[in-house]
Amino acid sequence: MPSYQQYLRLTEEEREDFNDDRDAFHSALVIVDTAQVRRLHYLMKRRVKANARRAAGARAGIVLDGPPTVGKSTMVKLFAARHEIRLRRRHPERFEDRYESGGLLIDYTPVVYLSIPARATPKDLSVLLADYLGMVLARGATQTDITNQVLNVLADVGTELVIIDDVHFLDLSAKEGRVVNDHLKYIANKTAATFVYTGVDLKKSGLFLEGQASSRATQTSGRNTRHAVTKFGCSTDADKTEWAQTVKALEGSLVLFRHKPGQLVKLSAYLYDRTDGSICALTDLLRESAIEAVMSEEEAITSKLMDRVEISEYAEVTYQSLVNRRRKTASARSQKAAS
Ligand SMILES: Nc1ncnc2c1ncn2[C@@H]1O[C@H](COP(=O)(O)OP(=O)(O)OP(=O)(O)O)[C@@H](O)[C@H]1O
Ligand SMILES: [Mg+2]
Repeated sequence: MPSYQQYLRLTEEEREDFNDDRDAFHSALVIVDTAQVRRLHYLMKRRVKANARRAAGARAGIVLDGPPTVGKSTMVKLFAARHEIRLRRRHPERFEDRYESGGLLIDYTPVVYLSIPARATPKDLSVLLADYLGMVLARGATQTDITNQVLNVLADVGTELVIIDDVHFLDLSAKEGRVVNDHLKYIANKTAATFVYTGVDLKKSGLFLEGQASSRATQTSGRNTRHAVTKFGCSTDADKTEWAQTVKALEGSLVLFRHKPGQLVKLSAYLYDRTDGSICALTDLLRESAIEAVMSEEEAITSKLMDRVEISEYAEVTYQSLVNRRRKTASARSQKAAS
């Protein structure tokens, strides 16, 4: 950052270009290693290590279950990225092109990430895996063909971590539900990888856990460990510290000329009210507020500025009802005092 004085001396065009860069930086913001991210990464890491050299057969996977927008996808992608970066450091040779005896090119792919589209069937799941692996499928290939090819390729390319995001989108209708469970179990059984699944309301969904056909569904639930992913709380001191630390980390990434460090942390309670403890709402609010601070030339994020920035409908409605409730309580109190 130049000094504010230098900034003011820039020509209009220079300033516009500089601010474009700042907007891009604020738009990207940073990913925060929240306490939840650290805790769940630790558990995933431990599970991956425990599975590494285990004999063939199903390895215990991890299920991250939580409401929308609590940061599940971000958390697993961050884990996947870190896992691969670690491998690149430790085994750089594996990432060079290798050739099998048949002359086949092996593209080492230790981590696979799939995001499940709505109402996906077991066959879709195999096709998604094949797409990720860059496989060319024969026209008219059956589910079994595709699945078998995928399993072979997963073994060839050394996949050790498979992340299946938004697994609640798998079709769990009575007809498909059991097939999906069986298919997931089959794939997990036949690969040497650790599977991490994320989704919404998985406990009740019949996926992994006791569902329609309880004694069979437990075949998958018996292998996977479910961890809840939640919003930030605000009841205990530890909750409040965790929230303030997250705000602090985000605040630290701002590139604004008149923003004093700590200014946002002091507004932690306001930020909690505005966002209902959602990391998604918090980052949306700060991202847009930072850009507003540049555009309006205020160069600092204050509560007055944030009042002008609307975020998601859910967060706004929750905030409004909180403000109304407080107003009612306050006026009831003052009426009581007056009488
Ligand atoms: N640790 C984090 N640090 C910074 N920002 C985060 C973090 N986690 C999530 N976010 C922000 O919140 C947004 C929503 O997160 P994410 O998509 O990971 O949630 P989700 O739980 O997967 O939601 P859904 O259930 O809708 O798929 C992200 O786009 C990102 O901006
Ligand atoms: Mg997600």
